[in-house]
Amino acid sequence: MVVYKYSFVFVFAAVIHLSPSAGLAPVLKLNNGKEIPGFGIGTWLGTNSNELKGDEVQKSVEWAIDAGYRHIDTAAIYSTEDQVGRAIKKKIAEGVVKREDLFVTTKLWNTNHKKEAVLPALRKSLKNLDLDYVDLYLIHWPIALHDNASISQTDYVETWQAMTDVLNQGLTKSIGVSNFNIQQLERLKSEGGVTPSVLQVEINLNLQQPALLDYCKAQGIVVVAYTPFGNLFNRQPSAPAPRADDQRLVAIAQKYKKTVPQIVLRYLVELGVIPIPKSLHKDRVEENIQIYDFSLTPDEIQLLKSFDNGYRTLSPLFWAHSPYFPFESKN
Ligand SMILES: NC(=O)c1ccc[n+]([C@@H]2O[C@H](COP(=O)([O-])OP(=O)(O)OC[C@H]3O[C@@H](n4cnc5c(N)ncnc54)[C@H](OP(=O)(O)O)[C@@H]3O)[C@@H](O)[C@H]2O)c1
Ligand SMILES: *[C@@H]1O[C@H](CO)[C@@H](O)[C@H](O)[C@H]1NC(C)=O
Repeated sequence: MVVYKYSFVFVFAAVIHLSPSAGLAPVLKLNNGKEIPGFGIGTWLGTNSNELKGDEVQKSVEWAIDAGYRHIDTAAIYSTEDQVGRAIKKKIAEGVVKREDLFVTTKLWNTNHKKEAVLPALRKSLKNLDLDYVDLYLIHWPIALHDNASISQTDYVETWQAMTDVLNQGLTKSIGVSNFNIQQLERLKSEGGVTPSVLQVEINLNLQQPALLDYCKAQGIVVVAYTPFGNLFNRQPSAPAPRADDQRLVAIAQKYKKTVPQIVLRYLVELGVIPIPKSLHKDRVEENIQIYDFSLTPDEIQLLKSFDNGYRTLSPLFWAHSPYFPFESKN
């Protein structure tokens, strides 16, 4: 086993040496035969959108590409597609990567769920990104909204059929969904025709979703983990433990000469999901992807598993009266 492990590390290092454009994280295979890099950078400024000065996300994505990230997550609603596009353009112009080395995801917002709204929404995102295609287009939520933000009754199965149309036109290489539950994924399978290639959902120490991950594995759906840090940095003071100063996590981090966020991200990778942490700090962007030179023991994995308590950081209860609300209607 030891010999096998060393030769694997050697082969992997050799691949990186020969081809820096391949990035740092191993790729996963999608159900349509395409590949998705196993680690990405998030670009949602969320509740700190007052931070938005116009180039902080661009810089973050540039640092990420330099650090070996090849997967970038954005969405129409984040208002960061333009900055993502400028970062990509710059790194291609500098010769650091080619377009085909990068995996770019964007998302259809809830106000564009009617079938005739999907293609124009994707075209607008492509214009913001200044790209000819994205690698992955996701339905951001199963919930539809009117322009005035009130709940619309549009069924996500209608939206999904329009997603398969834009896929066939080549404007995106793959399609998937975000914030769907198992029953909703089952409905897409039985009524929508094409199985999603990716499900993007919240996964972190507090919310590990083992049943959903098992389901996706059985269906060949790759899971992208959003909000991978959960409440590690006290995002919601009332959320359950752990925090980054948890002594059990600190002890594991010290053992591997890593940081607690790196231990968490490594754990998510070992669960088989793709973390997409966001940071506007260069040192953190670089730190977060440095998790491919160690692995956790079964005891450590057991400990990290024990933090799962079903606590959801993101639960938009103001949409709970939608017929398609995907989560528990009380947190
Ligand atoms: N599909 C969806 O509905 C959905 C929902 C939520 C998020 N997402 C996607 O998932 C991405 C990630 O989720 P998120 O942004 O909610 O949360 P997150 O990535 O779990 O956490 C981001 C926070 O962690 C801090 N941070 C990052 N690395 C750190 C480190 N090494 N040490 C200390 N602090 C660190 C960041 O601060 P600084 O920036 O100040 O460094 C930021 O405050 C989003 O950006 C978005 O692309 C998708
Ligand atoms: C919002 O728009 C929808 C569709 O146009 C309309 O039916 C609804 O009455 C509007 N609601 C409000 C609160 O304006």
